[in-house]
Amino acid sequence: MRIDIITIFPEIFTPLDVSIVKKAKDKKIIEIKIWNLRDFSKDKHKKVDDRVYGGGKGMVLKCQPIFDAVEKIKKENKDGIVILTSPTGQLFNQQFAKKLTQEKGFIIICGHYEGVDERVKEICDYEISIGDYILTGGELPSMVIVDCVVRLLPGVLPKDAPIYDSFSNYLLDWPCYTRPKNFRGLKVPEILLSGNHKEIEKWRKEKAIEITKEKRPDLYKKYLNQGGENDN
Ligand SMILES: C[S@@+](CC[C@H](N)C(=O)[O-])C[C@H]1O[C@@H](n2cnc3c(N)ncnc32)[C@H](O)[C@@H]1O
Repeated sequence: MRIDIITIFPEIFTPLDVSIVKKAKDKKIIEIKIWNLRDFSKDKHKKVDDRVYGGGKGMVLKCQPIFDAVEKIKKENKDGIVILTSPTGQLFNQQFAKKLTQEKGFIIICGHYEGVDERVKEICDYEISIGDYILTGGELPSMVIVDCVVRLLPGVLPKDAPIYDSFSNYLLDWPCYTRPKNFRGLKVPEILLSGNHKEIEKWRKEKAIEITKEKRPDLYKKYLNQGGENDN
């Protein structure tokens, strides 16, 4: 999968050079290219933003450098879909990430300041929000999207590993423990030490359901709607 990111802060993307995403790059499952939006500015000072029409505070990223950047990148990432990071977009979640794994590639536009000129949306396939809060720029959201999608690509994690992650089946994860069995009087549940894999699986499933019901009734409803407790 080819991933291109357009940003005014290319130096911020070091988290994509460690851990799972780095491994995916090393295995050539993905290729990531970071583009500096200023390189596409036709302004002699490399300005990429301007004042907002209608008055008011704040600057907005201009159409020209973004359109030019996307047109150039599309020559390299021909089938890449274009994603705009935006608080007014569709909410990102695990199911959406799974859907994005089907794409050959994507080109992500990071907004900044007050956002991007509305006309940029004309060249975008998706406008994605990572949550109901405002961040300074689209850099963190784009890394969230990349990390989440890349983990789900075949060959990145051990086979079946993501199936058991929270949200995969609309359930939250079950509780995990490691050594020692007793830490300051806090004990690991006996069942996990029993070696009875069938019973352990049953316990984990029950716990996942219990936790989801308690902490995320909205998710639990979705879990039930998709066949839920009959899927044992
Ligand atoms: C400071 S924000 C602009 C906020 C905008 N004025 C608003 O109220 O919707 C600057 C940029 O950060 C990115 N951004 C901020 N919060 C985001 C979120 N929750 N999801 C996705 N992108 C976000 C977007 O690219 C946005 O254009």
